[in-house]
Amino acid sequence: MHLFSNLSILTALPRLFVLCFPVSNTLTMTRPVSGSLSGKVVLPCHFSTIPTTMPTINANGTTPSTDYLRIKWTKMDGEKESTVLVAQNGKIKIGSTYRNRVSVPSHPEDVGDSSLTMVKLRASDAGTYRCEVMYGIEDTQDTVNLNVNGVVFHYRASTSRYTMNYESAVQACQTVGASIATPDQLKSAYEDGFDHCDAGWIADLSVRYPITRPRPGCYGNLQGKPGVRTYGPRKATETYDVYCYVDKLNGEVYYAPVTHKMTFEEAKEECENRNAVLASPGQLHSAWRQGLDRCDYGWLADGSARHPVAVPRMQCGGGLLGVRTLYRYRNQTGFPEPITQLGAYCFKGKHT
Ligand SMILES: *[C@@H]1O[C@H](CO)[C@@H](O)[C@H](O)[C@H]1NC(C)=O
Ligand SMILES: *[C@@H]1O[C@H](CO)[C@@H](O)[C@H](O)[C@H]1NC(C)=O
Repeated sequence: MHLFSNLSILTALPRLFVLCFPVSNTLTMTRPVSGSLSGKVVLPCHFSTIPTTMPTINANGTTPSTDYLRIKWTKMDGEKESTVLVAQNGKIKIGSTYRNRVSVPSHPEDVGDSSLTMVKLRASDAGTYRCEVMYGIEDTQDTVNLNVNGVVFHYRASTSRYTMNYESAVQACQTVGASIATPDQLKSAYEDGFDHCDAGWIADLSVRYPITRPRPGCYGNLQGKPGVRTYGPRKATETYDVYCYVDKLNGEVYYAPVTHKMTFEEAKEECENRNAVLASPGQLHSAWRQGLDRCDYGWLADGSARHPVAVPRMQCGGGLLGVRTLYRYRNQTGFPEPITQLGAYCFKGKHT
């Protein structure tokens, strides 16, 4: 899947090397590392810099420059493995998905540190990574798990499309338990496949929208190329939708386990009777990221109705992933009338 056309030469030599010398593995259990969308993490990996063979002193009194050092970081996806980074003899090769996003210390042998710094995190970066270090005749190996929190989502006011100036856009995200997304957060979400054809405010007073599948009506400034479209910086008085960002969920979201459908008021009561509250759209998106999957529309705290699709199914959301929104009108505007009979998504905080 990933392109590593330049790596074949690098991998040939070390294989031989491993076969010729005894291998000593050091496996340390490390806590999972957590990061946020578009943020930065360091995946720890340490190795011993103490020579394992007797150092030979040259006639001129110096030890021969330390041997061979090779660092390799691999992402493990079940059976599949993909190379993240290989550093050897001062040369670094990086997998295409990780270009400009990963690095290791410049002189790892001085400090015994081959930790991987990863920036511009994507949700798809989450998973298990293996670090392998060959230093002299030592071979050290370690694995570390990475979690990536955070979701970017589109938000439209209950009234209609493109009705919020910058200030009300910022406010709208806060009201639904989120914050207005930054350009980097939107970019990372786009890299993960986020596609939405509505112009929305972004924190830097620009207006953008992410398109992975270019199509008529969504070309913007990039014509047929995939990418994040931008209108550039706009006047704060202009009106659009907004892109919000929500981090980790601090509690639990669940679909109220009742068989009957409810009006908005009844849904609110149902959650309250359970010592919970109607979930905010931000909380529902967080829960979706953590795997909440349900094919029934349910009321949320802002008066909107949505449902989360975490497992692609044709009969539910047309095989697409994401949180679906129920609009009142065909043109995708308006929240449902409060008397509409629907389910409810409740939120229970960690300490309530
Ligand atoms: C010391 O001797 C080795 C070979 O014996 C040579 O490679 C190295 O350059 C010498 N170092 C210095 C500082 O002269
Ligand atoms: C969407 O449809 C409704 C009802 O037909 C209409 O009142 C509203 O103006 C439309 N909004 C947009 C943005 O086209």
